[in-house]
Amino acid sequence: MTLNELLACYPTLTLLQRAHMTIRWLVCPLRRIALYVPQKGVIVDLGCGHGLFSLFLARSAPTRAVIGMELDQEKLKLAQTLNQRNLRFIAGDIARQDDLPLAQVMTIIDVFYLVPYEAQERLLELCRQRLAPDGIILLKEMAEAPRWKVWLNWLEETLAVRVLGITESTEKHFYFRPRAEWVALFEKLGFTVEVIPMDKGYYHPHVVFVATLNHK
Ligand SMILES: C[S@@+](CC[C@H](N)C(=O)[O-])C[C@H]1O[C@@H](n2cnc3c(N)ncnc32)[C@H](O)[C@@H]1O
Repeated sequence: MTLNELLACYPTLTLLQRAHMTIRWLVCPLRRIALYVPQKGVIVDLGCGHGLFSLFLARSAPTRAVIGMELDQEKLKLAQTLNQRNLRFIAGDIARQDDLPLAQVMTIIDVFYLVPYEAQERLLELCRQRLAPDGIILLKEMAEAPRWKVWLNWLEETLAVRVLGITESTEKHFYFRPRAEWVALFEKLGFTVEVIPMDKGYYHPHVVFVATLNHK
């Protein structure tokens, strides 16, 4: 499935929305990340933005039921214009959530840097409670190295969140963590975690954590 096929699923798009999603698709290995999502079951995409990744997951496997959750009303409204049988979107602030749908997979793609550390831990604990016995949390974050990619990402996010307001946030700070800290946190919560660097060929220090719930 191509980016153009995905964009064509939106009944209307402004030039800005089209540009935003095109850039997002080009600078983030969303297609590769999706390979770690099982072909069936309920997938909850937390902080789904315009819903591009959720749409890709839903269209690439009709046996998936995808639910996107988003804070930004404008992005949510656009996502809700999509007419895809196995895809729906709900409003939600993941930093203040106390319930989630039961799911096979929770995906959190470039959102946690906008969520305070304590709230990140609370949400991961909630995800654990709402996951199927062999469920997965798929977390996409930015690694702490190499330094030049870290700085470039910081600059870009400062522009997107603080200056231009392209990315919605209720917070004044960014909440990145080094990879070892994510691993320790997942292990503390009862997950086995695989760390997959995905920054080769990209100027962001992309890294993915595939955290599988240990049998209860
Ligand atoms: C960098 S974008 C990533 C969007 C999408 N996950 C993707 O990979 O294309 C971060 C998204 O997280 C959303 N967000 C930020 N804080 C949030 C919160 N507390 N609850 C829900 N969504 C949030 C923003 O509105 C934005 O759409």
